[in-house]
Amino acid sequence: MKTLIKQKTTISENDNLIILCNAKSNLTKFKLTKKELNYIKKAKTEIIEINQYKRWIFIVIPKKEPNLNQHSENCRMIGDALAIKLKDLNAAVIVNLKKNQNEAMQIAEGIALSNYTFTKHKTNPKPNKLKTVYLCEKSNQKDIYELQNIIDAVYFTRDLINEPFSHLTAKDLANAASKSGKKNNVKTTILNKKKIESLKMGGLLAVNKGSIDDPTFTIMQWKPKNAKNHKPIVLIGKGIVFDTGGLSLKPTANSMDLMKIDMGGAGTVIGAMQAIASNKLPAYVIALIPATDNRPSGNAYAPGDVITMHDGTTVEVLNTDAEGRLILADALSFAKKYTPELGIDLATLTGSAVAAIGHYGIVSMHDGANKEHAKLKDAGDATHERLAEMPFWEDYEKLLESNVADIKNLGGPHAGAITAGKFLAHFVDYPWIHLDIAGASYCQKKYGYRGTGATGMGVRLLYKFIKERVK
Ligand code: BES
Ligand code: MN
Ligand code: ZN
Repeated sequence: MKTLIKQKTTISENDNLIILCNAKSNLTKFKLTKKELNYIKKAKTEIIEINQYKRWIFIVIPKKEPNLNQHSENCRMIGDALAIKLKDLNAAVIVNLKKNQNEAMQIAEGIALSNYTFTKHKTNPKPNKLKTVYLCEKSNQKDIYELQNIIDAVYFTRDLINEPFSHLTAKDLANAASKSGKKNNVKTTILNKKKIESLKMGGLLAVNKGSIDDPTFTIMQWKPKNAKNHKPIVLIGKGIVFDTGGLSLKPTANSMDLMKIDMGGAGTVIGAMQAIASNKLPAYVIALIPATDNRPSGNAYAPGDVITMHDGTTVEVLNTDAEGRLILADALSFAKKYTPELGIDLATLTGSAVAAIGHYGIVSMHDGANKEHAKLKDAGDATHERLAEMPFWEDYEKLLESNVADIKNLGGPHAGAITAGKFLAHFVDYPWIHLDIAGASYCQKKYGYRGTGATGMGVRLLYKFIKERVK
């Protein structure tokens, strides 16, 4: 269920209150008892709880933090802590006694993002009861509208990623993109298997060979009249709706359990497009989503196979579990026809990225996009969807040399996230950033307001980056 953020100018005596203030703020208008005031005075926590029988009051005094980005994150995390206390209530009002609109918005953002649950497959769903967070101040209506659209987009992305393969095939994923596109005036085209064959997307077709479902290739275009850029920014998302590894079947216990999330890149890109279009950013953006599942069968592609990609490159497939790079490579070379000013791909690409930094951020690398990467990193710090940049030295490229084809789809035993990136780089001739979100996409244990399960990490990052870029 959606969590709504709304504005409210008057407070009634039954409203649950979140009073954002500092230690010296005057609280007389809330008619607190002496006992309560004393309790507040003595407390040293950021959140002070008062149960008034008719309502709850939460006094919130954010701790001082000189780093602005960290302070924003602290406020979102206060929102997360509040959401846990609010989950059985219907609504709460943030009363802002400080003049800082950002803090109130960030707390609301944290509450709303934390309030997400995925209950659609429960017979008796018990989602959190909290429906509405009110901001009680002269906050800018436009800012609230923008924030609501971003939160809805994150929810949408999480829903897509949490959805199991039984309910989300490649076609379903494409249809979800199309449905979101229709709602927001994003032109969406779904290429079917025949069209994919005529485009000779050998990577996508090879991975799809073992499947009983057809692949899809979805193109989304947001091109408003007031777009500031003439050449598009192209976003590319890995859409493996389930990854068994194929004939190189995933070997270790439990390594397959989570692989419904292997369309995390696609889900993130579709959500980002929704955030961008619903907020009508003046940016020309295209999204490309190659999608299929990867599984073994009598007709599945096999280790040792040589396949010819969309751009004519021949690839020796040495491990059918390195499938993401094959479908992405076709999308990356397909993107050349748009002469992008920048390409960004997002993919749950390697276990190596998870091993490197866990779920705390996004592994990044780039080719010819120094300035753009620095800006993306800034957006990452601002949204706390942080980038950890890997080296992208030429040495790694050599690890992809093949004896029988132009390149192989496997690097050496080390630096797996980087060799995967180097494989992709072979198919790109424009400024390009690669984001490996294998760790960031999903958390098995609650990670603050990102919750349990799909995090939606990447949506707020891309939105912020593109918004700043066309400012
Ligand atoms: N989808 C996986 C990567 C992955 C791992 C995503 C863990 C999320 C969590 C990807 O297709 C894969 O299997 N990568 C292999 C590549 C290897 C065979 C070169 C990997 O990282 O082990
Ligand atoms: Mn795989
Ligand atoms: Zn995969």
